[in-house]
Amino acid sequence: MRSFLGKDIISLKEFGREDFYRVFEVCDRLAPFAYERRNSDLLKHKTLVTAFYQPSTRTRLSSEAAMIRLGGAVTGFSDAKMTRAGDFYQESIRDTFGMLEFYGDAIVMRHFEQGAPAEAARWSSVPILNAGDGWGEHPMQGISDLYTVLKHKGTLDGLHFILDGDLRMRTMHSMSYAVTEFDITVSYVHPPDMGLPDEVKQYIDERNLNYRFVEHIEEAIADADMIYMEPVVQPDYTKARDERSGDVGRTPDNYKVTRELMRKAKSDCMVFHSLPRMDELETAVDKTRHAWYWSEAYYAVVTKMALMALVLGAME
Ligand code: CP
Repeated sequence: MRSFLGKDIISLKEFGREDFYRVFEVCDRLAPFAYERRNSDLLKHKTLVTAFYQPSTRTRLSSEAAMIRLGGAVTGFSDAKMTRAGDFYQESIRDTFGMLEFYGDAIVMRHFEQGAPAEAARWSSVPILNAGDGWGEHPMQGISDLYTVLKHKGTLDGLHFILDGDLRMRTMHSMSYAVTEFDITVSYVHPPDMGLPDEVKQYIDERNLNYRFVEHIEEAIADADMIYMEPVVQPDYTKARDERSGDVGRTPDNYKVTRELMRKAKSDCMVFHSLPRMDELETAVDKTRHAWYWSEAYYAVVTKMALMALVLGAME
């Protein structure tokens, strides 16, 4: 990827090191608007469409907040059940996105099927930004989280990340693809039935990522710079909605991050969680300097501002 103008943001497999730094550079330029809580007019003639086929708190609202910060307008849906894609007609992605493109200049999309944003991009002439596709990827979260690390550590090279929890999760895949572009070592820790998909393992092997698997997070905690978490008590991400019923289970200690565990970590070890959490991340960690998940929410707005400005040509 050299120019972002008009590009879809579907997968971090498409990002080279220079692409990440280009986004980070634009983040730095736009961050003052978010930090000072003021709006600009950079995209005042543009409209963002949000097409969410799965529930979201952070990704949809941070996308909308980013567009509003840039002076643009927002329209869209947060529950596909209220559209023709979610009722009797089960309207196809082809028909839906062949039409949505006339309602705005970029589309942020979340879907329960892996590959759905790539399919939408086939039928839309405006950029599609993947906000999570089934168990596939969550590229905007990955970029935003790397930017958060960079702002705190000053570098992405020479760091050790722990990727902890359900490695089938889309955030884990986007982060695994992204770290191959940097001198980052990864320790993966996951329950037996929640390992990395073959496709992701093949990708990191082909790129010589320096990684290992450990059984218990304590085996890797001492020299970790960042812990990247996902619950092991998860909904089924291939469903449009998975409501909780009965006992959903507990997280084994191997994958839990507690205040006690963080006593064994480096003083500046960062804990990331894309949220929502279950019992894997103790709320007592919130009071410690290790808690970076609230900062992730701030940087998510900044990163989405940068991505929208880039794909819509305002920062070329
Ligand atoms: N981080 C994240 O994807 O959260 P939501 O599911 O609330 O969008």
